[in-house]
Amino acid sequence: MTTTESATSTAAAPGAEVRFPPGFLWGAATASYQIEGAAAEGGRTPSIWDTFARVPGAVVGGDNGDVACDHYYRMPDDVALMASLNLGAYRFSTAWPRVRPDGGAPNQAGIDFYSRLVDQLLGAGITPWVTLYHWDLPQALEDEGGWTNRDTAYRFAEYALTLYDALGDRVPYWTTMNEPWCSAFLGYTGGQHAPGRQEGVAGLVAAHHLMLGHGLVVDELRRRGSTADLGITLNLTVADPFDPTEPADVDAAHRVDHLWNRVFLDPILRGSYAEELPTITAGLTWQGRAWEDFVQDGDLALISTPLDVLGVNYYHGDGASGRPHPADDLLGSRVEAPSRSVRSPFPGGGDLSFPRRGYPVTGLDWEVQPEGLTRLLVRLHEDYDVPPIYITENGAAYDDAVSPDGSVHDPERWGYIGSHLRAVHAAMAAGVDVRGYFAWSLLDNFEWAFGYGQRFGIVHVDYETLRRTPKTSALRYADVAATSTLVD
Ligand code: NOJ
Repeated sequence: MTTTESATSTAAAPGAEVRFPPGFLWGAATASYQIEGAAAEGGRTPSIWDTFARVPGAVVGGDNGDVACDHYYRMPDDVALMASLNLGAYRFSTAWPRVRPDGGAPNQAGIDFYSRLVDQLLGAGITPWVTLYHWDLPQALEDEGGWTNRDTAYRFAEYALTLYDALGDRVPYWTTMNEPWCSAFLGYTGGQHAPGRQEGVAGLVAAHHLMLGHGLVVDELRRRGSTADLGITLNLTVADPFDPTEPADVDAAHRVDHLWNRVFLDPILRGSYAEELPTITAGLTWQGRAWEDFVQDGDLALISTPLDVLGVNYYHGDGASGRPHPADDLLGSRVEAPSRSVRSPFPGGGDLSFPRRGYPVTGLDWEVQPEGLTRLLVRLHEDYDVPPIYITENGAAYDDAVSPDGSVHDPERWGYIGSHLRAVHAAMAAGVDVRGYFAWSLLDNFEWAFGYGQRFGIVHVDYETLRRTPKTSALRYADVAATSTLVD
């Protein structure tokens, strides 16, 4: 393959100084289940991840989020750590089963935890950015069908408004959903994520209901005259063909673009599903119905309620192929994976695979392709009427080594972050309105089906002592956050 050679970047080369505009937001992100712990405390009830993590073979090492980083108890120290790293903003998610246990009545202890967190952040001069759903659906709601049940969208809106009533006076940025692609397709089609269902086109039904929940919340907050910046965070890909000269690969990339990007972008930013989506999923049914049968009049108008911001999470490039490849040549094949069997997360995707193309890879075997981020941002700007963009997550897992003196040097992670910052800057130079960047993640944490073995933090967490140690990348990032300038 020649893709590596042809993957040219217009971003400034390493070493060249890059300046971001005044007011550019510099932050770090986390998510409730990945860091909080205190799974059965303060009135919290189980989420789908508490259940899923106990399914044999679902998570590498049998890890779960019972303790995680113990952030629930160490929150003030964690905020002090953020301040010491010059962070201007902190993106965190709220746990639905803490705020409305079992999806039922509000729980004051849960609300108070987030209220204290917000006050602590504001006291430290850090802007709070709330994500309302980062995958921890109350198990009780999954027992009633989860995201394949339309009612879950209305329950989500109730939960969101409970939090908005409590924190809306102090939180300027609200994200409804984080990466609904993962919730829908890894959760209900492929089974890689909680609730682990493998029900084909049910993933599209879930995606629709997730977007409906999003739309209900944005619409209601607009009606209430909210002045907060409202948005959603999507994980998007550039969906290149593995070999652009192979029609089967071009076709595979086209399907990936629909089943990964456009399935969310079109309803949210255009108010309609892509015309071809029903063709790609033709003949597929869930409980005897096509996914389109779950779309009701008025849904798309709600889903496309205008947004103030779009959150983009970007981690890797992907070259899609529609032809067979040896298993060992596929991305992900060299990483210790959960042993539970899973399916393709692309309903109607047909033969689809992502063979390695010769790019460097991270600890998760994800291709490092920063120029893909530039192209993705430019594409959003050109193809959609897109609101201001924030990179709400970007980062990499690497096998960090702790030095005998306790320090953690992670030049690969800093190389990754720096190259992606340059890619963001290149997109801005091309006219894309990007307003901020959040490193994923503040802390090493529970990396979903990969457990604690995959470390994304700019701060190392010793899971025996729970001690936090800023890695070299955190110190470099702190310099960038303080000066809005990337030097090398
Ligand atoms: C995106 C998800 O939002 C986050 O929870 C996860 O840890 C990172 N990707 C890395 O996989």
